[in-house]
Amino acid sequence: MIKITAVILAAGNSTRMKYSITKVLRRVSGRAILEHVIESCLGNGINDIVIVAGKNYPELNNFIQEKYRNIIKPRFVLQKRQLGTANAVKVVLQSKVRLKDNILILNGDVPVSRKTVKSLINEFFKQKAEGIIAVSELQNPEGYGRVIQDFKGNIIKIVEERDADKKEKQIKLINGGIYIFTKKSLKKYINKIKLNPKKKEYYFTDIVEIMANDNKKIAAKLTPFKELTGVNNRLQLMEVAEIKNRDMIIKLSRQGVTIRDFNTIFIDETVKVGRETVIRYYTNLRRNTKIGQRCLIGPGSIIENSIIGNEAEIRKSMVWESKIGDKTKIGPFTNIRAGTVIGKNCRIGNFVEIKNSKIGNNTKIAHMTYIGDAKIGNNVNIGAGTVTCNYDGIKKHKTIIGNNVFVGSGVKFIAPVKIGHDAVIAAGSVITEDVPPFALAIARARQENKINWAKKMKRRKQR
Ligand code: UD1
Ligand code: MG
Repeated sequence: MIKITAVILAAGNSTRMKYSITKVLRRVSGRAILEHVIESCLGNGINDIVIVAGKNYPELNNFIQEKYRNIIKPRFVLQKRQLGTANAVKVVLQSKVRLKDNILILNGDVPVSRKTVKSLINEFFKQKAEGIIAVSELQNPEGYGRVIQDFKGNIIKIVEERDADKKEKQIKLINGGIYIFTKKSLKKYINKIKLNPKKKEYYFTDIVEIMANDNKKIAAKLTPFKELTGVNNRLQLMEVAEIKNRDMIIKLSRQGVTIRDFNTIFIDETVKVGRETVIRYYTNLRRNTKIGQRCLIGPGSIIENSIIGNEAEIRKSMVWESKIGDKTKIGPFTNIRAGTVIGKNCRIGNFVEIKNSKIGNNTKIAHMTYIGDAKIGNNVNIGAGTVTCNYDGIKKHKTIIGNNVFVGSGVKFIAPVKIGHDAVIAAGSVITEDVPPFALAIARARQENKINWAKKMKRRKQR
């Protein structure tokens, strides 16, 4: 068991983000930033996690309850006033929560990877230092704390951008905001940090100079910058998303997925795609989506939290929280809304909307149709312009259609209604009553042709 407690600093006010929800809950690549951080701890066997929260406590707590209820129990420590990162660490040290001998401190706004946390831990134990900091070299280091090292490579000071002089600003080595310190040294030195007069905050990074002056060794772990991109504003949020997307596209390509384009295809890290599937332009695969083998996805499709079978096609369409069977073809211009399960070898769309419905195998719903709260069997043909009238203004009602039913074009099903298997519904019918199996239902007014009626009208107008 590793003797590490992770402390995630997440109490900041997110001022630079200019967003009503706290920045650590902003999503990047299918997960909240905070989730990336937590997953990287869990992935290294660290499940002793403390989260420093501020005014955002209710939001953070809700999120954790929802996401990790049965998995981990992170402990929250409240930082009443956002007096800076050193103060955030201090409230943890002063709180009643029990801490292990080594503390992994993670800025909650850096969606760090598991790999980076792992190498930081390894290096920390190897170096036998009092502390270690993940650092990175950057052409444009603007906004980050600059790291000053001695000739042995140990860190002796970190200067924040706003306090750096001209020469210090030239330094390309930056502080990534991921640290490990021994509990002992944190307890000893945290109180020595003074208020920064410019920002009126206590900077955690000041601990470095204080410890170095006391001959304590603080090591550096050089890490690729893409692993340490902090999210302070919307531009950085976009940059991190871009980095993660590129990595994901490279990973899937290596696994045998054809992805047509880096710039218009966005795939969350949490998505799985089978071999020989082709993903075409302007496509977004989100959250916990799973796509089978040899599918054709896109162009222009959005799929979220859905499971797609093998050899399926989703062209210019959206699929939300739904399940699509093998060899089923969706689109173009089709919206599959939450709670829908579609069987194998179906043909859905163009211009079709399906919501909260179950569709069997080999069924065709090919043109301009709305299906809501329905259960439709196998081998059913739904004609163009069919509508399940599921909502009476107060309640939603079900339409149930058995196997092998043929529905002509322009039919309205006034739900609740049940159609027996092998029935035929005549085009243009408004079905208000159940139909027995094998029956033909015709429900439309009889046509009457008034001979020469139009001619007479015209003559009357001319007079
Ligand atoms: C910090 C570092 C900087 C580093 C950068 C890396 C300090 C003083 N500076 O700057 O050297 O290059 O991260 O991304 O630490 N927080 C609290 N309580 C507070 C203030 C902040 O919990 O009172 C949390 C924030 O929610 C955030 C994290 O601490 O998740 C870092 O704070 P932030 O304001 O983003 O620091 P940076 O300016 O990015
Ligand atoms: Mg930051």
